[in-house]
Amino acid sequence: MTPRRIYLSSPTMHGEEEAFVQQAFETNWVAPLGPNVDAFERELAERVGGGFAAALVSGTSAIHLALKLCGVSRGDTVLCSTLTFSASANPITYEGATPVFVDSEWDTWNMDPRALERALERHPRAKAVILVNLYGTPAQLHAIRQLCDARDIPLIEDAAESLGALSQGQQTGTFGDFGVFSFNGNKIITSSGGGMLVSRREKAIAKARFWATQSREPARHYEHREIGYNYRMSNVVAGIGRGQLIHLDEHVARKRRFISATATNSPIWIASA
Ligand SMILES: Cc1ncc(COP(=O)(O)O)c(C=O)c1O
Repeated sequence: MTPRRIYLSSPTMHGEEEAFVQQAFETNWVAPLGPNVDAFERELAERVGGGFAAALVSGTSAIHLALKLCGVSRGDTVLCSTLTFSASANPITYEGATPVFVDSEWDTWNMDPRALERALERHPRAKAVILVNLYGTPAQLHAIRQLCDARDIPLIEDAAESLGALSQGQQTGTFGDFGVFSFNGNKIITSSGGGMLVSRREKAIAKARFWATQSREPARHYEHREIGYNYRMSNVVAGIGRGQLIHLDEHVARKRRFISATATNSPIWIASA
């Protein structure tokens, strides 16, 4: 018998995506900047309740830049959810830091606040915490935020899988000092590939955009004083993202219907109901 598969989210296009891409072609904005990139950043930030956003090539690059913004460097320790996709933890090693994995709770399969408390006692100098809302189900975000605040440790919320999910009325991705979304092909909305870094800190987001553009100084010639990255989202990809964002609520509603039809008693459904 063929095993039954439950896909995360397969791409579902609606038409507006093509219109925004067409516009990019017609105006020759086929570049890693342009009106779709600016608008996608604005629209996404508005959708999650304000703040600022940097459109990047992937969720992974957004986590990497969030870690840099938290000052993570060689020899540091970063606490991270253990049940997650490897991309949550990989960027910790890009900076030469060490991930320490924190165990999950039964209810949501996300980071257990009690386990985090113990981990913080053992690693009081941890440079950051990366928390994941796995499969779109919010973690105990308020409790985890409080634990980080008590020790003045920045929280990076890996909301790659949870765009559109709420915790006590607040959008996931906005609980951390930095929030990360992914638009790869298995996410609730997709731009084929891409990510977004969000924060209430305008200057931090401006710095992320700078690093993501090879740290190019604002001069007429090529001038670079810091190591940079080629992490900016293209204007074509941002067009797909903009078209998808219009339909986010429909996608979330459909996912809820699928979950309730296939796994009424699963911890995921109980947690997100
Ligand atoms: C929890 C989680 N974190 C990070 C990522 C990385 O996102 P991306 O594939 O856009 O780099 C993903 C998705 O792949 C993910 O599911």
